[in-house]
Amino acid sequence: MAGTVRALGFAGSLRAGSLNRALLRAAVELAPADLAIETFDIAGIPLYDGDVEAQGDPGSVAAFRAALRAADGVLMATPEYNHGVPGVMKNAVDWASRPPGDSALARRPVAIIGASPGITGTARAQSQLRQAFEFTDSPCMAQPELLVFRAHEKFDSEGRLTDEATRAHLAKFLAAFRDWILRTGAV
Ligand SMILES: Cc1cc2nc3c(=O)[nH]c(=O)nc-3n(C[C@H](O)[C@H](O)[C@H](O)COP(=O)(O)O)c2cc1C
Repeated sequence: MAGTVRALGFAGSLRAGSLNRALLRAAVELAPADLAIETFDIAGIPLYDGDVEAQGDPGSVAAFRAALRAADGVLMATPEYNHGVPGVMKNAVDWASRPPGDSALARRPVAIIGASPGITGTARAQSQLRQAFEFTDSPCMAQPELLVFRAHEKFDSEGRLTDEATRAHLAKFLAAFRDWILRTGAV
């Protein structure tokens, strides 16, 4: 067994009360001892613009890319908007995907989780987000999945994940993600 595996986590919602930010906090709490998850707030990342990129990465983008490169794996908590990936999440992935073939995502193992109040628990958004990692050449963990449906019933008023079954499933998911990083990454 290697030493501690490092993952970078980010959520695709800007709301302070975001269920997905809360889910990411729960992931930090429930990760196995040998998986350290640092989080990155993507709120400062501007809309992708190739002209801006050509002049040099904005500070927030440079920091994001550096944090991704320092991580052994990437954990994303995505909401679902209109049966797809919210723009803020896709925009962060688009910046991270540059330049193609040599990006901070290339060959870096990734995993997706998500929470929504609906009954499908971000299934469509996760499926759509997964497609991006075919282009970035990032091994995306297929199983287990974590779809937190009726999520508003599973967190308390302070955003703590209180549903015991979801907590147990998240802990198993994170142990599998650690194994996935060790199996597919360059750790
Ligand atoms: C523009 C918009 C579209 C939405 N579309 C969906 C949807 O397709 N499926 C779904 O389960 N929830 C949908 N929702 C509800 C979100 O899942 C819910 O607002 C969720 O709390 C957002 O994630 P967050 O709490 O991390 O911000 C939508 C919400 C918004 C604002």
